[in-house]
Amino acid sequence: MDSNIRENDLSKIVDADRDHIWHHLIQHKPFETGAPRIIVEGKGMRVWDQNGKEHLDAVSGGVWTVNVGYGRESIANAVRDQLIKLNYFAGSAGSIPGATFAEQLIDKMPGLHRVYYCNSGSEANEKAFKMVRQIAHKRYGGKKHKILYRDRDYHGTTIGALSAGGQDERNAQYGPFAPGFIRVPHCLEYRAQWDLTGEAYGKRAADAIEEVILAECPDTVGALCLEPVTAGGGVITPPEGYWERVQEICKKYDILLHIDEVVCGVGRTGTWFGYQNYGVKPDMVTMAKGVASGYAAIACLVTTDDVFDMFKDDASDPMNYFRDISTFGGCTAGPAAAIENMRIIEDEGLLDNTLAMGARMIENLNALSEKHAIIGQVRGKGLFCGAELVSDRASKEPAPEKQVQAVVADCMAQGVIIGATNRSLPGLNNTLCFSPALISSADDIDQITDAVDQALTRVFSA
Ligand SMILES: Cc1ncc(COP(=O)(O)O)c(C=O)c1O
Repeated sequence: MDSNIRENDLSKIVDADRDHIWHHLIQHKPFETGAPRIIVEGKGMRVWDQNGKEHLDAVSGGVWTVNVGYGRESIANAVRDQLIKLNYFAGSAGSIPGATFAEQLIDKMPGLHRVYYCNSGSEANEKAFKMVRQIAHKRYGGKKHKILYRDRDYHGTTIGALSAGGQDERNAQYGPFAPGFIRVPHCLEYRAQWDLTGEAYGKRAADAIEEVILAECPDTVGALCLEPVTAGGGVITPPEGYWERVQEICKKYDILLHIDEVVCGVGRTGTWFGYQNYGVKPDMVTMAKGVASGYAAIACLVTTDDVFDMFKDDASDPMNYFRDISTFGGCTAGPAAAIENMRIIEDEGLLDNTLAMGARMIENLNALSEKHAIIGQVRGKGLFCGAELVSDRASKEPAPEKQVQAVVADCMAQGVIIGATNRSLPGLNNTLCFSPALISSADDIDQITDAVDQALTRVFSA
């Protein structure tokens, strides 16, 4: 840490922030009497705030982003060098880092061939939705335009992406939404909707998607958009049998499978992409956060050649191509950072580390659940873990949100930043979330779960 970080050094910054910054995702009334948090510096797994206080970051920049950790000079250098050579040109032309990263990415995604660059997860998902709509117009007289999304999934913050939003609290007060987005049930067996378990449950949850397709008429349904592991909706790992059946259903009704890898993509679950854990063959994949670990803004929509070819089959028709642009999709900093980010993951063996440290985190959380009855279920894949808190294990009554937030606050006071589902699902914002950087060590994981242990003891014995 820079030894100059002392409370008073930054008091002017704190004032400017309090006076002028509209922070994301937060009620500002408390800032009338208290100071907003300002994160000043980061190195490895740790960040320092305006008071010089050190925190172990168990959520990779708050929202599952900084996969390779803070302070990576090699990424900064790669971006700097690229910016001096060429910072920008619109995406109607190519760039050296754009083509280089696309080739490297496609190498990790057998079956997929084309990369469309933009800047955020929401935007990448919007592009996918637009492609589905255009394919419907080009091929099916506009009929096959409906997009299915799942209860508890999230695909972004724009009105289009919220129209595919399965989190009712997140969507509340922002409607009306775009038509043609249809919800299918979630697949969380812990909050079971059918009296089945294991693989039978997984197949039943997927069959529920087929029921929706049949009710809507298959010739009106163009795509199904799913997270491989639901993130902000409660870290939901799919039950056995689910994905195989989902894939069959999409094939049967000629429905494009769009996987939202904005959180899981580029290593988070211990494979390059979350869907690769489940043998899925998607038609479209979107990704953002971990692609460049937050060192530059970049998002990608990756498609098969079959999807791509639908947009170049009749060059004599002036409307027959994907008539879309993302201005900042032409920034070269994104792919320059992404190339170096991917090299780091490969050279440092971070996928293997993610599997090993993810297993340790699940083991530690399971040990905590022996001690703390408030933990109803531990879930996770790689370094993407959740612990759902319940007041009563038998009834699965969700723990009150105030107490869940008190656990997060207690960890923060201990210098460990963890997350919790927040303004996502009415009455069900009760899952603690852990997504430390893929560079986590065993000591880091133990420090995180020790802090949770202490927080649970304090909050629930008070
Ligand atoms: C699964 C998923 N998709 C899409 C998004 C939206 O990404 P962005 O905030 O980059 O627009 C998020 C953001 O948290 C996400 O979790």
